[in-house]
Amino acid sequence: MRNFETANRLQVLPEQFFAKLVQKVNNAVNEGRDVINLGQGSPDQPAFGHIKEALKIAVDDPANDKYSPFRGFAHVKNACAEFYQREYGVKLDPETEIALIIGGKAGLVELPQCLLNPGDIALVPDPGYPDYWSGIALAEAGMHMMPLKEENGFLPQYEEIPEEVLKRAKLLFINYPNNPTGAVADEAFFEKTIEFANQHNICVVHDFAYGAIGFDGKKPISYLQSNGAKDTGIEIYTMSKTYNMAGWRVGFAVGNPSVIAALNLIQDHLHCSLYGGIQEAAAAALLGPQDEVRRQEEMYEKRRNLLINGLNEIGWKVKAPQGSFFSWLKVPDGYTSEEFSDLLLEKANVAVAPGIGFGEYGEGYVRVGLVASEEKIKEAISRIAQLDIFKK
Ligand SMILES: Cc1ncc(COP(=O)(O)O)c(C=O)c1O
Repeated sequence: MRNFETANRLQVLPEQFFAKLVQKVNNAVNEGRDVINLGQGSPDQPAFGHIKEALKIAVDDPANDKYSPFRGFAHVKNACAEFYQREYGVKLDPETEIALIIGGKAGLVELPQCLLNPGDIALVPDPGYPDYWSGIALAEAGMHMMPLKEENGFLPQYEEIPEEVLKRAKLLFINYPNNPTGAVADEAFFEKTIEFANQHNICVVHDFAYGAIGFDGKKPISYLQSNGAKDTGIEIYTMSKTYNMAGWRVGFAVGNPSVIAALNLIQDHLHCSLYGGIQEAAAAALLGPQDEVRRQEEMYEKRRNLLINGLNEIGWKVKAPQGSFFSWLKVPDGYTSEEFSDLLLEKANVAVAPGIGFGEYGEGYVRVGLVASEEKIKEAISRIAQLDIFKK
């Protein structure tokens, strides 16, 4: 068969590191091994009942078989605005300050293509969510990695970014509650971010994927709650984690009207909005009862406590995350993050994500997802204890 050469733009795409991990876990499962998979980032619980009901009703409405309006239904954007007002006290104009997106990932990959020219630079957290890199590569732009270090609460240190980088920087990605570190941001950090962005004319993209998961009674704050935030950028909200709708592919971007307009424009050319039924279900999720969201947050917190206390008891001295559904754990001396993940998979049948997959500064850590039942987490701890690596 003829092998067509791909365009240069595909050749510069970063390697999908986690595809390799998925393959390793699948191989182990196919060998018949009972793997506890804490390496993935997909919620283990189903979407809530009333959301599925809304979809079922929408499926029977023939209006939804037609193309939906290019930029989505107005009442769905109204629902997003009502959600932000109710949850964060943030007022948004549904027409100019909200864009529907086909999941957070699509928006995050489209944005650099909207705002960056070849030679521009995006500031990216390291460790960080690897899909930021993909959009930047597609825009043929450069990346400057901002180390997220434990001693700084896993917050980037803007003052360490060199002047020559700042001259070319146009876009800044931040993400709190953070994947992979589980760190959260406070208002002081967002205020500092706004000041920095204003000073250097940089557009901020706050990825708020884990906005509904904060621990110890602290609700994660939205970037848009800080004064002047809307002037400096946007926030990306996804339905994937809050409402267990990862497979449904729906989210929305909120904030600066010029960025929202750019996102809408590129989407006019790439897609034809989302299936109407998915939009109806998203509106039902945003406007419906939120008690299951709160119960779910408690569920993750219980799992976190179980994992962190259990690992400390077996001698793996680890710290508790403050939000998201990930724990970011230092690997014991003598192992790289990949060696240690391989060891856990091979010898304990426990899959975790090696930190190096999230960037150079992820080395020395593994990411453990709180996306399995308490019973499975207990079993994973007991399997790790049997390896006899840690001293009590
Ligand atoms: C930090 C972060 N941002 C964005 C996403 C994208 O989520 P989705 O495309 O399902 O909205 C994820 C998913 O894992 C994530 O962890």
